[in-house]
Amino acid sequence: MRVGIIGAGQLGRMLALAGYPLGIQTRFLDPNANGSGGQVGPVVVGEIDDAARIDALARQVDVVTFDIENVPVDTLRAGTADSIVRPPPEALSIAQDRLNEKQLFGRLNIPAAPYMPIASLGDLERAPDALGWPIVLKARRLGYDGRGQRLVQSAAELEVAWRELGRVPSLAEGWVDFERELSLIAVRGSDGATAFYPLAENVHVDGILHTTTAPYQDERTQSRAEDYLALMLAELDYCGVLTVEFFLADGELMANEIAPRVHNSGHWTIEGAQTSQFENHMRAIVGLPLGGTSPTGFSFMLNLIGELPDRERLLKIAGLHLHDYGKTPRPKRKIGHCTLVTATEEERSVRADELIAVAGIP
Ligand SMILES: Nc1ncnc2c1ncn2[C@@H]1O[C@H](COP(=O)(O)OP(=O)(O)O)[C@@H](O)[C@H]1O
Ligand SMILES: [Mg+2]
Repeated sequence: MRVGIIGAGQLGRMLALAGYPLGIQTRFLDPNANGSGGQVGPVVVGEIDDAARIDALARQVDVVTFDIENVPVDTLRAGTADSIVRPPPEALSIAQDRLNEKQLFGRLNIPAAPYMPIASLGDLERAPDALGWPIVLKARRLGYDGRGQRLVQSAAELEVAWRELGRVPSLAEGWVDFERELSLIAVRGSDGATAFYPLAENVHVDGILHTTTAPYQDERTQSRAEDYLALMLAELDYCGVLTVEFFLADGELMANEIAPRVHNSGHWTIEGAQTSQFENHMRAIVGLPLGGTSPTGFSFMLNLIGELPDRERLLKIAGLHLHDYGKTPRPKRKIGHCTLVTATEEERSVRADELIAVAGIP
């Protein structure tokens, strides 16, 4: 079984590492042969928007998948005309455009933040009448880790936000005064078998995921989230891992965005669940039975952003798992993460404080 992964970032690296024990061989397509993924598996060197290079990868493998969301869908389709691509490119095309995401939520009656499509400054100037203040202006395409969006607090700031985002097709979104941010990860096999991980609670700082704590235990919310993902999996005839980010506001879920791939808020599953999200994605796309998704303890994940803290001090923390992605440090860049899994919630909170102190993060 050979899997081709378009993009060789840390997600691809962790997919490859999860595939080896199952006997799955991995190959990447990436412009960088020595990046995060390239350090653990062979790379077909090429741009991810080059159909001929995608085709070169596809010919060497049984299934093509991706670790990055901005592969142009037409190029992907052209480069994989005779190949199996999982998850389906249709899911990718929805995740690439925030308007498509909102329309998917609307079609399936899944609650989401109120929004207006924005094509001009005039549209944007009308948005606060419908949405109130503040509003979040989000570029429809290519945003991630809080990039490609602006919080707009007053009429005077509208023009600046529009200009700073590059006057591109956007969405204006109403501000959600959420209590928490949660995410749910589902996996669906090629035979339609489906499994859900427990909800995870996420804290973002400056739009970038900072910590994940899992499981978030609330039966009613869990079952509602599972219902929403089940609708999306069926609608998209999905195969592989699907993640949905939610806001919890007034006790109710509102979908924020979808990721048709393994997700940063699921990194805790490597040590904290029976089967990791990475292994389950690999199992699903090559047609193997799915593994159990039960948590094995209480998990806490801290992202390492910009630079790595002192490795020796980190590793002195009892039970700590360090993941260094092998990336060049750069401000705001995700270069690693740490996970703790404990037997009790109390112990998790003690260890998490210790970790945050050692990592030198406020
Ligand atoms: N409408 C909103 N109301 C309140 N906070 C928001 C809203 N939209 C986004 N955010 C905050 O910004 C973060 C990043 O936004 P998101 O839409 O998930 O984009 P990205 O693709 O960058 O992850 C969210 O996780 C949340 O913390
Ligand atoms: Mg997000």
